Amino acid sequence: METQTPKTVKIFDITMRDGSQSKVATRIKLDDLLKIAGKLADTGIYGAETWGGATFDVCVRYLREDPWERARILKAAMPNVKSMMLIRGQNLVAYSNFPDDVVQKFVEASARNGIDVFRIFDALDDVRNHEAVIKAVKSVGKIAEGAVCYTISPVHTIAKFVNKARQLEDKGVDQICIKDMAGLIDPQTAFELVTGLKKAVNVPIHLHTHDNCGLGMMSVLKAVEAGCEMIDSVLSPFSGGTGHPCTESLVFSLERFGYSTGCDLKKLTRAAEEARAVRSSYSEFEAPYSGVDCKMLITQIPGGVMSNLSSQLRLQNALHRLNEIVDEIPKVREDLGFIPLVTPTSQIVVSQATFNVLLGRYKIIANHTANLLKGMYGETPAPVNKELQDRVLKGAKPISVRPAELIPPMWPELEKKFPGLTEEEILIHAIFPHEAAGYFEERAKKSE
Ligand code: CO
Repeated sequence: METQTPKTVKIFDITMRDGSQSKVATRIKLDDLLKIAGKLADTGIYGAETWGGATFDVCVRYLREDPWERARILKAAMPNVKSMMLIRGQNLVAYSNFPDDVVQKFVEASARNGIDVFRIFDALDDVRNHEAVIKAVKSVGKIAEGAVCYTISPVHTIAKFVNKARQLEDKGVDQICIKDMAGLIDPQTAFELVTGLKKAVNVPIHLHTHDNCGLGMMSVLKAVEAGCEMIDSVLSPFSGGTGHPCTESLVFSLERFGYSTGCDLKKLTRAAEEARAVRSSYSEFEAPYSGVDCKMLITQIPGGVMSNLSSQLRLQNALHRLNEIVDEIPKVREDLGFIPLVTPTSQIVVSQATFNVLLGRYKIIANHTANLLKGMYGETPAPVNKELQDRVLKGAKPISVRPAELIPPMWPELEKKFPGLTEEEILIHAIFPHEAAGYFEERAKKSE
């Protein structure tokens, strides 16, 4: 089969979710997002990522903003643009698995509040963790996008990624995302991967990459040349470095190459001016350095992970051990089956590596590490360290079924526990049980 160059490239502007997350710790408030959305609405972009990932958590925990209202209002502000969310498979917008009935309710509520495209990923790339979400998305007639997490390891090959994509297509996804959350994909690999995917699957391909290592725009171009139909980018004031390739320069270049994006560069420029003003009012949340940093090409540790680790070590007066921990991370990752470093696996690997360095290698096996070794998160890309696994299993068998099979339904009990609340409110309790009380208290005070 010959690779066909698409005439049209669909642009998803992701300034409001990943842009905000990558540059100002997801802190942008709804009022300010609305200023950007208002200007983006008629630029001709096909989609906008407005929700999911850390947004739900930050709304509830820090901003005390109604996350559902955010999804609804942003959709209303951009009625002709597809609203996309990032959903962590069976973890939804949290850090561990939920039962299938809560997954179903969450997806229904998200769709009801304006989400059109669900980008579904799983940190282990175990497609069984996509299943319930895909089914729920299809049941409400929305678009299911299955993500393959791009990572570099001795077991990750083009063939392996393509095989994952094929499995996702079999599960019924409408499109495939290459999720390069760490900005590690290089132009040649992007070309080979998209070429491989175009041969193996029939659904459109969507590339999500970051610009940490300065590779973003080159990789986007090579992906498009290989037939990738959809691209994520952000308005210029949020672009580059820990952020993403820039929407305006991408539109400008693709048009010069003869592709049609349907976007109006003048209008995009106005949206960018608005975005610049918004970003400037969140300077307190800026990371100290958010430009290009090529260290990752060697360490493969995402920038966000590094900055979190540094600030945690500073708190523990252990910053001088940073380099040892950086060296320990690949070792732990190997012991845990070469899992990609993405929420929540990045946190699991980094904490275990920190314990190993500060207390001695595997003197303590953290709870989450133990659960991963037991198979509670699903199947790892390569087998885990057998010795460590035996140690935590203590004679029991590792979990081999789809992990959520083992979680009993929760919804009937939740409804009983929170009578009179809307499904949206119950979901906040279900997903963030520890933060919900404070959230609702403060919301009530605000409305008095
Ligand atoms: Co990202």
